[in-house]
Amino acid sequence: MTNDAQNRTQWLGRWGFVLAATGSAVGLGNVWKFPYMTGEYGGGAFVLVYLACILAIGVPVMMTEIALGRRGRGSPIDAIRRVTSESGGTSLWSLLGWMAMLCGFMILCFYVVVAGWSFSYLWKMLTGGLAGSSVDDMAAIFGANNESPFNLGFWSTLVTVATMVIVGKGVQGGIEKSVSWMMPGMVVMLVIMIAYGALSGGFGEALHFLFAFNAGSLSSEGMLAAMGHAFFTLSLASGAILTYGSYLPRNASIGRTTLTVAVADTLVALMAGLAIFPVIFANGMEPGSGPGLIFMSLPLAFQAMPLGTLFGILFFVMLSMAALTSSISMVEATVSWLTDNKGISRRTASWGTGILLWVISTLAMLSFNVGAEWTLAGKHFFGWLDYLTSRWMMPLGGLGMVLLAGFVLKSESLREELGLSPVVHGLWLFMVRYVSPLGILVIFVDALGIAKLQFGSHWPWLLLALVVITLVGELASPRLKRAFGA
Ligand code: TRP
Repeated sequence: MTNDAQNRTQWLGRWGFVLAATGSAVGLGNVWKFPYMTGEYGGGAFVLVYLACILAIGVPVMMTEIALGRRGRGSPIDAIRRVTSESGGTSLWSLLGWMAMLCGFMILCFYVVVAGWSFSYLWKMLTGGLAGSSVDDMAAIFGANNESPFNLGFWSTLVTVATMVIVGKGVQGGIEKSVSWMMPGMVVMLVIMIAYGALSGGFGEALHFLFAFNAGSLSSEGMLAAMGHAFFTLSLASGAILTYGSYLPRNASIGRTTLTVAVADTLVALMAGLAIFPVIFANGMEPGSGPGLIFMSLPLAFQAMPLGTLFGILFFVMLSMAALTSSISMVEATVSWLTDNKGISRRTASWGTGILLWVISTLAMLSFNVGAEWTLAGKHFFGWLDYLTSRWMMPLGGLGMVLLAGFVLKSESLREELGLSPVVHGLWLFMVRYVSPLGILVIFVDALGIAKLQFGSHWPWLLLALVVITLVGELASPRLKRAFGA
């Protein structure tokens, strides 16, 4: 390990990592995507599968990423290269780091556009631009907001600049400082919003919708969406958590921190549901209205309620902060790689990355107006960024990481890094070797269209496959270790 790596910056406060990682995890995914996906895929059953995916795939992958980051003390590329070479593995594994870094950057290119929606709706709320609008008006307003590249571009540029300014100020002075007030602020606002929802009259219906298990609505499509979303919502396999982990002090427990972040992220998603759906139901609206849910239905519902504008403002402030604490994490991998390897200052690295981000995100933004026709195989540029990252790069990266940790790296080095009790370590190893890879493979099998796996009816076969794979894997693992290195 180089001297550089040993002297790497660390989080200043005891809660620095937890706040920053929770800030990364809690974002548009929780407040925008999770509620509308739950609405589309039928409520409680989707929620249950999502929770199972967080536990079976999300938590083990996150622990692995943090361990890789802390042991390798560097950006995803450098950290993975160091950790693998420590175990005598091939340097080809650093490709995994390259993919993760690229993936984080690509996500950010469309994320700033959606975050821009949030900022623009905050502005509309503040200036009373939505007052007195009807259902039809709302759709028209959403459309008009997208139609002008200058309007939409203004808001995504604003998000880009804000992100780069924070990241440019450094890990402690920028990232840690901003999350240490934004995260508590967000939680307070969310609690106020839930109290408001509870008084709105639709609370019981919302509870039922989110938590009543309705097996009939369990589609294979919904299951796969739930798995993809587990990766997205925990910011996995895209460099964010790994890089944040590289700043984690040695004495922090990776298991406990991961659980804290995963639980906090899940709670916020459920809380966002409890803040949004009561308002939707109280106003007799449809929960399944898709990506426009919080931009069309919700503002409309607020219109009709006492103090609605105030709570609407609160909601979009909260959403915008959630988006920013996530966007800074997506770019940190790239900035950290540039400063570590290219001998440039953090400030220069941030501005350079920001300019590239601005160019590509502007192209993504154009998908909603002048570039709507620039499609490839029916998807515009924004759609491609989302599709490639969520469906392919994140699951593939996650698969690579668990296989690396499960079969390539020396068991002692991981045991030392994770510091778990033998039983919990064994459980983690079982998850990263068999449960998580099988879960991820199932996403691929479906995405490739090889088979439509109806989990509802096929789960006994999947369980059997898991048992067989585990037996074969345990028998073959010493051989695999020899073949791959360690
Ligand atoms: N987890 C964030 C959300 O739910 C999004 C996010 C932040 C992210 N960093 C990421 C997603 C890195 C993938 C990769 O909104």
